[in-house]
Amino acid sequence: MVASVTITAGSTANLGAVMQVMADSFDPTFGEAWTDPQCAGILGMMGSWLLIARADGEPAGFALSRAIAGEGELLLIGVRPQHRQRGIGTALLDRVVAEARALNVTALHLEVREGNPAIALYERNGFRQVGRRAGYYRGRDGIARDALTYKRNLPII
Ligand SMILES: CC(C)(COP(=O)(O)OP(=O)(O)OC[C@H]1O[C@@H](n2cnc3c(N)ncnc32)[C@H](O)[C@@H]1OP(=O)(O)O)[C@@H](O)C(=O)NCCC(=O)NCCS
Repeated sequence: MVASVTITAGSTANLGAVMQVMADSFDPTFGEAWTDPQCAGILGMMGSWLLIARADGEPAGFALSRAIAGEGELLLIGVRPQHRQRGIGTALLDRVVAEARALNVTALHLEVREGNPAIALYERNGFRQVGRRAGYYRGRDGIARDALTYKRNLPII
């Protein structure tokens, strides 16, 4: 990761920045992005947390996660196209894992559209496919696409 990138905890006060990064990061064709009220709703729930990555002080990426009773979920991760392939996504993922461990999470779950190139990133970081949800994503093109569910065990160290 380049030296000018920082990752800090965020809150509902950062929702504007999150929605900007979301709009740049997710192709609306696939229906993966969340709305502002959906993000605000999750951030109002117990156990959720937001991380913001900034490059030279500007929002470049984010990760939204939740942990309850030893189970964690990476809900969303996005990096603006101009900041990709520099390790920001990996750094966000590493930080989610570290914070999940600190919350006594022993299994971290995520769900991803079949065919999303992010799958390579997840598999390289220890996530293994555990299931499939048929037709879970419905995008602007009206096509239904499956969600794959992934899990990474976080053994207590
Ligand atoms: C997934 C994502 C967060 C990765 O961010 P990043 O900062 O580029 O991640 P890193 O630089 O740490 O790692 C890049 C890796 O991501 C994977 N990857 C994800 N999307 C990719 C794409 N469109 N093209 C090529 N590689 C991609 C590859 O494995 C790549 O590894 P490589 O550099 O060895 O080829 C970013 O591509 C993104 O925002 N995608 C759109 C939003 C999304 O689909 N999020 C996941 C579902 S919630």
